[in-house]
Amino acid sequence: MPGIVIVGAQWGDEGKGKLTDLLAERADAVIRFQGGNNAGHTIVRGTQEWKFHLIPSGILYPRKLCMIGNGVVIDPRVLIDEINTLRDRRIDVGGLKISANAHLIMPYHLLLDSAGEARLGKLQIGTTRRGIGPCYADKAARLGIRVQDLLDEKILKKKIAAALEPKRLSLRPFAKDPSLDLHAMTEEYLIYGHRLEQHIADTARIAWELLDDGGTVLFEGAQGAMLDIDHGTYPFVTSSNPVAGAACVGAGVGPRDIAEVWGVTKAYTTRVGAGPFPTELTNAQGDRLRERGGEFGTTTGRARRTGWLDLVALRYAARLNTLTALAVTKLDVLSGLERIEVCTRYRGAEGAEFEHFPYHQSVLHQAVAETIEVPGWSEELGECRSEADLPTAAREYLELITQTTGVPVALVGVGPGRDQVIWTQAGEESELAPGGVTA
Ligand code: IMP
Repeated sequence: MPGIVIVGAQWGDEGKGKLTDLLAERADAVIRFQGGNNAGHTIVRGTQEWKFHLIPSGILYPRKLCMIGNGVVIDPRVLIDEINTLRDRRIDVGGLKISANAHLIMPYHLLLDSAGEARLGKLQIGTTRRGIGPCYADKAARLGIRVQDLLDEKILKKKIAAALEPKRLSLRPFAKDPSLDLHAMTEEYLIYGHRLEQHIADTARIAWELLDDGGTVLFEGAQGAMLDIDHGTYPFVTSSNPVAGAACVGAGVGPRDIAEVWGVTKAYTTRVGAGPFPTELTNAQGDRLRERGGEFGTTTGRARRTGWLDLVALRYAARLNTLTALAVTKLDVLSGLERIEVCTRYRGAEGAEFEHFPYHQSVLHQAVAETIEVPGWSEELGECRSEADLPTAAREYLELITQTTGVPVALVGVGPGRDQVIWTQAGEESELAPGGVTA
């Protein structure tokens, strides 16, 4: 059976974690392929709530294989905290596997992330300050520390010293910071290695074996297409590739291992941090979406910027990821609106119209969203469990998304609960549909 990639089709926070967790029930393994603890999601099981930043979705199923792929950057302190929390709540973490090739976030990455933002002043990106960018920069500069380095004191110390050397100048303001002492840092990270050792594995090989045996592997993305370092709104992006193509690189499989690509989009749009956001609403309507949608970050608690659904950006994400299915989350948040606006094209500064996402930053930064109005609905959707339960206007809204993007809406989220989802007719054809593949 297949590899199935799940990616964000907007600027992150689309509800990938919840969806992956739901779909993980029918999969043999979940593997994360990029990002780090800049991501975050909340899982609700009965009366219990769980917040994860690094551990892949699906860990709450008994002994489910949940893997952190080579493309992820890991802050070991955060990972160990999450493991401890799970253990304290009596969750078996035996299925957690960590790629020996994944890179580690080091104390200097955190300091450099914050210092970099401070230096940018008004031009700052609004990073999560978790050290993500500096860690990926070290990886590309071949100065990274990898998970496997934790298992050898001599190698670890040598590599940390080599990584610190070219940063002397930028780290000078933190000269007295005890976390930067080479010996203390080495000791600290060796302890992390000791704690994580039982989980370190050749995650790519595990994925191959499952796929070759006909198993189902979910590749879980973090962030979203518009935050992609190559294809997003650079420089206001994250430092990795949250697009489907990166699942191969970040997990160690080939394109022919992938059978389906699911894109997750909210029924409207949000963005955290700075950068262009053509459909942004800075008025009472935007506040309403934020409040009704609970749009505050899981990782940083920041209020998210909100706006109407941007079909120009969504069509772009659909092509970029070769999406085979869309999951539309939070449709219930739109209930109670008489009219809903949807962006179908941008207008540039000189009046030019763009139906495709503009590649040039100057065009994009000045692009204004042109919207059409579609009828809203007054009914609450929380109890809807089939397409037929949805009001006509809500069904038409989903149809508009399918028509414009060319991608069938397979799943619709109508509330925070696990059961508050609707499988559409198109979704029933997926390997992941209830009654489809079972693990
Ligand atoms: P970084 O990934 O911490 O370097 O932040 C770079 C940009 O990506 C900032 O605008 C962040 O707000 C944004 N970002 C990173 N992770 C997420 C996420 O999980 N959801 C939404 N935005 C994110």
